[in-house]
Amino acid sequence: MRNHWTLDTIDWSKFDRSKVDPAMMRAVKAASLVEYNARDYVEYLKQVFKGDPDTIDAIEQWGGEETQHGDALGRWCEIADPTFNFKREFARFRQGYTPAHFVNADGSVRGSRIGELIARCVVECGTSSGYTALRDATEEPVLKQIAGLIAADEFRHYRLFYDLMHRQQEQLPAFWERLKIAATRVSEAEDDELSYAFYCANVTPEQTASVKYDRKACFNAYQACAMRMYRRPHIERATAMIGRAIGLHPESYVVKLSGRAFWEVIRWRTWAAGGADTVHQKAA
Ligand SMILES: [Fe+2]
Ligand SMILES: [Fe+2]
Repeated sequence: MRNHWTLDTIDWSKFDRSKVDPAMMRAVKAASLVEYNARDYVEYLKQVFKGDPDTIDAIEQWGGEETQHGDALGRWCEIADPTFNFKREFARFRQGYTPAHFVNADGSVRGSRIGELIARCVVECGTSSGYTALRDATEEPVLKQIAGLIAADEFRHYRLFYDLMHRQQEQLPAFWERLKIAATRVSEAEDDELSYAFYCANVTPEQTASVKYDRKACFNAYQACAMRMYRRPHIERATAMIGRAIGLHPESYVVKLSGRAFWEVIRWRTWAAGGADTVHQKAA
C-alpha cells in the first residue's frame, strides 16, 4: 500500500473519552467487523476478474485498505470500550456469516463484470458518505481523524471501480438493468451482513444466551445508532454518485429528485428508529 496512511498516522494520544457518543460507537463497532471482512470480497472479485492481472492487483490493494479500515476502527473501539475485543468479535462474525455467493463463486452474481462494478460503486458511495457523516458528526478527535482518512479512501475506491467499469470490453447493460443492479445492491444493505456484525459487535459471548440474534431488530438498532449522523448534503452527494455510476448526469432532474426522496426516507427512518436500539436495551 504505497503512500497509504497507516495506524501510526493516527494521533491516538488525542483520544478524549468524554467525547465518545455511545450510540455512535455501537455503529462503529459493527462497521469495524464488516470492513475487516474484506478478504472474502477480494477472493470473490478475483474470481470475477480472472485473467485480468491489472484489475486483480487493484483489487488486492483495495482489499488491503478495507482491512486496514477495520483495524483502525477496531482499535478505536477497544480504546473507547475496553470490554470490546475486536479479534474475538470478528471471529464470531466470520463464523456465523458467509454470503451464499462467496461459496464456490464462479463469475459475478450481478450477471456481468460491469454489473459487479456498478454494485461496488454503490457500496463505495454508501461508505464514502457514511464516513463523511461520521467525521462531521463525531466530536471525538481520534474518531474524527480516522473517519476523515477512511472517507477519502472510500471516495477513491468509488473512482477506482467507476474507472474500471469504463475500461471493460463487454457490452454495457441497458439503463434499466443498471438501475436494477444499483437498486438491488442498495436494498441488500438490509441483509444479514450489517445486522449480524451489529449483533456480534454489541452482544458479548456471555450475553448471547439471553439476547438471541434477530436480524430485523439488529438492523433497526444499527439504523437508530447510525442514521442520526447524516445530514442532507451527505445523502444528496451519495445519490449523485450512484446516479453517475449508472450513467445519469449528477445535475439531472431525476438525480436531484431522488436525492431529496432519499433524504426524506432517511429522516423518516431516523424518526421511526428513534430509541429502537432494543439490542442494547436487552444486553444492558
Ligand atoms: Fe472501507
Ligand atoms: Fe471502500
